[in-house]
Amino acid sequence: MKREDIIVPEGEIARQRDFQENVRAMFAARGAHPLARVETFGCQQNVADGQRIMGMLEAMGFAFTEDAGEADLVLLNTCAIREHAEQRVFGNLGILTHSKKENPEQVIVLCGCMAAEERVARRVKESYRHVDLVFGPQALWRFPELLWQVYETKKRVFSAAGERGCIAEGLPVVRERGVKAWVSIMYGCDNFCSYCIVPYVRGRERSREPAAVLAEVRELVEAGYKDITLLGQNVNSYENGRDYRFPDLLEDIDRIPGDYWLRFMSSHPKDATPRLFDVMAKGRHVAKQLHLPFQSGNNRVLEEMNRRYTREKYLELIRYARSVMPGLVLTSDVIIGFPGETEAEALDTVSLVEEVGFDALFTFLYSPRPGTKAAEMPDPVPKEEKQKWFDHLLEVQNGRSAVIHAGYAGRRVRVLVDGESGDEAYPLSSRTEGNRLVRLRGDKSLVGRFLEVKITGSNTWALYGEPV
Ligand code: 5AD
Ligand code: SF4
Repeated sequence: MKREDIIVPEGEIARQRDFQENVRAMFAARGAHPLARVETFGCQQNVADGQRIMGMLEAMGFAFTEDAGEADLVLLNTCAIREHAEQRVFGNLGILTHSKKENPEQVIVLCGCMAAEERVARRVKESYRHVDLVFGPQALWRFPELLWQVYETKKRVFSAAGERGCIAEGLPVVRERGVKAWVSIMYGCDNFCSYCIVPYVRGRERSREPAAVLAEVRELVEAGYKDITLLGQNVNSYENGRDYRFPDLLEDIDRIPGDYWLRFMSSHPKDATPRLFDVMAKGRHVAKQLHLPFQSGNNRVLEEMNRRYTREKYLELIRYARSVMPGLVLTSDVIIGFPGETEAEALDTVSLVEEVGFDALFTFLYSPRPGTKAAEMPDPVPKEEKQKWFDHLLEVQNGRSAVIHAGYAGRRVRVLVDGESGDEAYPLSSRTEGNRLVRLRGDKSLVGRFLEVKITGSNTWALYGEPV
């Protein structure tokens, strides 16, 4: 597809601003001050999308509330990655029949990845008749138009399934105040890992123009954000023509002056290159931290997963990354219980975990996603058996995390204080360059500052410290 066909023309974005204005004027004419409740599930990409949705709602005159009961609009920005995430959303939708009964004018919106699944849209259409608007991630930029349609026609609106993926610049945004910011640099996924729903719900890969990304990061740094994460389903598949790839973008962003850390996620090993690690190593702002999902330590399972690398290739990447970045903080995602996986194969995953020594691991039990290739594969191992393998892996990893964390004892490290912790003895929460959590003694006036701290204690999940 040609680039011009992917980037939403400015005229279209201006049209959406007109719809925003229509909604704002409608409430203003009634003398109303509308409230919205926005709830986001799932990954950071979805969080970033949620911030754009809030930006559009704010432009429509909405303020925000946590209480669905008093909201004029309730929006669930959903995740489809595992069955559990979907069940939670259907549960929440069920509960919303009550607030809608109390307030029949309330508008209920379902968006995000689940909303892009035809199966889900059909179920909502038939069985959740209090839902007014359903649209997937590809239609995000048309939210003002779709919402206006609901208000104008008083009918339920379902955006067409299979809406084409594009890139919309200049959408308004409501960010968390202060310290951390997310910047989407590419959207969609072309990898079709056999277990994964993402390529079906977020469409084909497309990358933003470097100039647009650079301008956004510059603005964030100038506004005082200190921890900036570049996002994409496969962030390191970013490419703007054959000669400008993710390491080039990272290098260019790193040149932006200021006091900040630069991170990125999630990366795919197939697109991780020595050049990427060299750029990371050299970068002044690039945090020496890498989230590189490996999913399985067994080559047969990796092949069935369509991951396009081997255990050996993965280990080689890690070896190189560590050779140029000693002390690199490493995390990963792994799936236990892929269809047909045997106990011996699951143990290969455990042995890879032991061999690498990850600082932390995100472990998942396989969850079949209708429409994916893996969901059609024979899956004879009972859940209880998979759970045992899973618990064993977790135990190994927790032990490892505890040992790595204990190694910080007595060390001085630089942290960024990112908020309050709710723990009386250690009231501040902060992060190391490697994104490890440090609970801190100190006053909340320190939030938003880089500090030198001394590590005084640790457990599996966190470090404890005090400013020096
Ligand atoms: N079942 C279990 N885990 C999954 N993931 C993606 N799809 C599935 C699935 N069907 C995990 C992968 C991915 C992370 C975001 O979620 O480990 O990296
Ligand atoms: Fe969930 Fe994947 Fe969608 Fe993120 S992209 S919200 S993890 S389904």
